[in-house]
Amino acid sequence: MLQTKLCNLNLKNPTILASGILGVTKERIGRIGKAGAGAVTLKSLCHEERQGNSNPTMFAYDGVFLNAVGLPGQGIDSALKDFQRLDNLSVPVIGSIYGYRIEQFDNVAKKMASLKPAMIEVDISCPHLDYGKPYYADAGLTAEVTKAVKKNSGKIPVSIKLSPNVYDIKEIAHAAERAGADAITAINTATGMVIDIDAKKPVLANKTGGVSGPALKPIAVRCVYEIYETVKIPIIGTGGVTYGKDAIEIIMAGAAAVGIGTGIYYRGIGIFKKVCDEMEMWMKKNKIKNLNEIRGCAHK
Ligand SMILES: Cc1cc2nc3c(=O)[nH]c(=O)nc-3n(C[C@H](O)[C@H](O)[C@H](O)COP(=O)(O)O)c2cc1C
Repeated sequence: MLQTKLCNLNLKNPTILASGILGVTKERIGRIGKAGAGAVTLKSLCHEERQGNSNPTMFAYDGVFLNAVGLPGQGIDSALKDFQRLDNLSVPVIGSIYGYRIEQFDNVAKKMASLKPAMIEVDISCPHLDYGKPYYADAGLTAEVTKAVKKNSGKIPVSIKLSPNVYDIKEIAHAAERAGADAITAINTATGMVIDIDAKKPVLANKTGGVSGPALKPIAVRCVYEIYETVKIPIIGTGGVTYGKDAIEIIMAGAAAVGIGTGIYYRGIGIFKKVCDEMEMWMKKNKIKNLNEIRGCAHK
């Protein structure tokens, strides 16, 4: 009922662990797969190890989750040693990469491709990384990054992860598709700020952070809807998906698959199975046999 085709991947269901939410080790990939995820995305990796930003880097209240972790974690070389290969694990693994400068993408993409992930996701959209004019806000730069990664990734499909912090996300998605992207991941977090009124200053040391979780969902649904009208390649709809009804909504906007990140904070690692069960219940009630029957139906 939930089987999903994403580029050349056959997923048992459309739920995918979004990048950066859990520290994903080889052992943990198996556990996340057992918990029901259709695929798992690794934390984004670049050419070097990063410490990330100073604390506090995370804040949560009600439906809002704000973070400015600043992409802490190992570099691609240490990931090569840890994983060796990614194509022999119990669940499809998507490798996520980023770079501060376009020249860095060739090498990181080549190394990531050598691990044989099911897909390479390109994080051009971290809102709290200082890389000068961000690639995500410029169609030309997005195309250049896409070409650099495609040139070095062989037959592995490439998804470009977009930011909602742009004037026209359709233009950026279109540039990625024209440059050879096989899929679009939409969206990364939206820049926001929370102020502690007693301390009279922003709660995060970085002042601004990326908003994720339920507060992001309407923005994600809007972005997926707009991108679906613009490109033919599949979309991994990501942003605030917490319940089965959210996954159905983002699929109706046009998503082929559904990223889940912050939802784990609210519902634990069992969220993948819970979301799938809730989707199936809704589908049975509405006599829907497979997701193709509702994908993009909100456009009619
Ligand atoms: C703590 C945290 C760390 C994140 N790290 C990454 C990352 O390394 N790479 C990336 O592409 N996205 C990263 N993201 C963005 C998520 O993958 C996702 O796009 C976003 O949070 C929206 O989905 P959600 O509302 O389901 O969390 C991070 C999000 C959070 C909350």
